[in-house]
Amino acid sequence: MPRQGVVMLLAVARALRPVARSVRTPVRPRSTVAEAESRFITGHPDCNVTPYIANLVGRDLHKKSAHPLGIIKDRIEAYFAGLETSYDVFDGEDPVVTTTQCFDDLNIPPEHPGRSKSDTYYLTDTELLRTHTSAHQSQHLRQGHEAFLCTGDVYRRDEIDASHFPAFHQMEGVKLFSEEEMNGQTDFSDKEAWLASPECDIVAKDLKATLEGLIKYVFDDPDLQTRWRDDYFPFTEPSFELDVFYQDEWLEVLGCGVIHADVLDRCGLASRRGWAFGLGLERLAMVLFAIPDIRLFWTDDERFHKQFKAGQVSTFKPYSKYPPVFKDIAFWCPESYVENDFNELARSIGGELIERVENIDTFTNPKTGKTSNCYRITYRSMDRSLTDVEINALQDSLRDEAASALSVELR
Ligand code: DAH
Repeated sequence: MPRQGVVMLLAVARALRPVARSVRTPVRPRSTVAEAESRFITGHPDCNVTPYIANLVGRDLHKKSAHPLGIIKDRIEAYFAGLETSYDVFDGEDPVVTTTQCFDDLNIPPEHPGRSKSDTYYLTDTELLRTHTSAHQSQHLRQGHEAFLCTGDVYRRDEIDASHFPAFHQMEGVKLFSEEEMNGQTDFSDKEAWLASPECDIVAKDLKATLEGLIKYVFDDPDLQTRWRDDYFPFTEPSFELDVFYQDEWLEVLGCGVIHADVLDRCGLASRRGWAFGLGLERLAMVLFAIPDIRLFWTDDERFHKQFKAGQVSTFKPYSKYPPVFKDIAFWCPESYVENDFNELARSIGGELIERVENIDTFTNPKTGKTSNCYRITYRSMDRSLTDVEINALQDSLRDEAASALSVELR
């Protein structure tokens, strides 16, 4: 999005604050809202954090022991606490990290799409809301932690549907191996030799056994079917993905691998080897608690919260399914158009009332070369029935603001 677009989007989001705010119940005290906004909305030309996003930071859902995310986190930590290795546990790191922590330390190159402003929330050119908990790996390794778990909220600009929300939670795990476990090896300077060595295999095998054990423990099913697939992450080599077979479907649950030599080198640990993994808590919790929509994790509705108890995985009973309201919007796009900017605008205006934004038609006029997109917005509250009047007002704002902030031409 051109700079001016971002500035305008922020202005718009601010102007619309009363609309967006009324979506969340109960309302945060004004002072906290202002504080959140002043910290994250810096005025830097690269800042693309909106008030809506700023007010998601610090909710700390993963620290609430009777919240499904807290229950899953506690369960994972309990599994690791029962293993021979002792894991240091972190869950309070600041979600604001530097591009060095989030990307450079992890071998993520400057041109990687995950670093772009269309995918990531930046406070300044060098500070951002972490896109993954891997952002803390190197810092803990440098501090001398040999095995640790690290949980936190992460932020990504993305599509809008029942399983995508701009903020979600991840847990990172890291374990280094002793010299003895590596059969006395400390010189790993020959990269090819390391990857082909029996010691690399020892690390990968331990990783896989540990994580299969974890998933069976979390699903409380020793016979759970799992499968491994090779994958690619810039910060692990080799890299893997773990799937589980649950309710007739293969589900991707985590990414992991043997920590890349360059990552360890940068931490002053060239003589050490180990593994790392990262998993999404919402994904696991949605499956295990049968939670149908990711927005529910953020609700303050008692009918949600009273269903959960610390230490217990239980099946969520939807208290009601309110009817959806569908609204379409179609427009010609300028060349600079980025779909995530439209998603962001929709979230800024409709907040958690928007269940889904779906591109239902896109075409390019062969004569003018102009592209048109048509989106279907699904409005549906998790907690109450919506009125025509409020939805029409939101849709009208969305149309007006798309035209002014994103420079689209409404059709
Ligand atoms: N950070 C990755 C993500 O967000 C997940 C991940 C993959 C973490 C592999 C790891 C790892 O530590 O080794 O998609």
